[in-house]
Amino acid sequence: MKVQTYSSIARIFHWVSAALMFAVVPIAWYMGVLARNDPSKGTWITVHKSIGITILFLTLLRIAHRMTNRAPDLPNGFSSLERLAAHSAHFLLYFTLFAMPLTGYLMSDLGGHPFNWFGLFQVPQLLTVDKASSSFFHNLHKIGQWVVYTVVTIHLLAVIKHVRNGDGIFERMWPNRPGHSQNR
Ligand code: HEM
Ligand code: HEM
Repeated sequence: MKVQTYSSIARIFHWVSAALMFAVVPIAWYMGVLARNDPSKGTWITVHKSIGITILFLTLLRIAHRMTNRAPDLPNGFSSLERLAAHSAHFLLYFTLFAMPLTGYLMSDLGGHPFNWFGLFQVPQLLTVDKASSSFFHNLHKIGQWVVYTVVTIHLLAVIKHVRNGDGIFERMWPNRPGHSQNR
């Protein structure tokens, strides 16, 4: 049977991850403008890292869920080019959700900068300090942000187009309201 809509769990993953992404990026910009000796800088870096590692964890669970639960196919009437574009964009979004926190963690871990998750417990430091590798992942992390900006902008433009077309794509991800049918 064709799957018509995203599961409730997939929707929760999507909206929690999206909200965390909309928080982690501006915090990074803010960290960047604070002076080196600003007393709050360390706290913001810890918050950035904590949200980022949470995104990594959620993404691993989300990918496991996605591999065991089919996502809805695009309805009939969408061209093969539109299907390819949607799949590629979704793949790239997943890629950024995984690669950004991973490069951030590797930069931090290899640089010898352990951190406490929201000040509660220390995130395990798994690797031996290696400044050269740390700076490699630092560069990847910095370049990666441009992939995030590009692919999220494309994603949002696509969503706006679907909402304007009234084709029901947005509703497949939006939380179900009472009386709102799962199988439209
Ligand atoms: C989805 C998750 C993440 C996103 C989207 C993200 C995004 C960013 C962005 C946009 C910047 C600013 C880069 C610049 O100024 O050029 C940044 C900086 C930074 N990020 Fe992340 N980040 C994420 C996760 C993480 C994680 C998990 C860690 C570490 C555990 C981390 C550590 C850092 C550090 C230390 C900086 C400052 C680097 C510097 O001083 O130039 N990030 N991040
Ligand atoms: C206000 C912001 C956002 C809106 C309105 C939105 C809306 C949507 C909608 C309607 C879909 C379903 C598309 C379909 O049925 O084919 C979707 C899928 C998806 N979105 Fe978003 N999104 C937003 C932000 C984000 C962000 C920030 C990310 C991650 C960086 C993201 C990642 C994804 C992914 C990975 C999928 C594919 C899910 C799958 O097939 O498993 N979204 N989004």
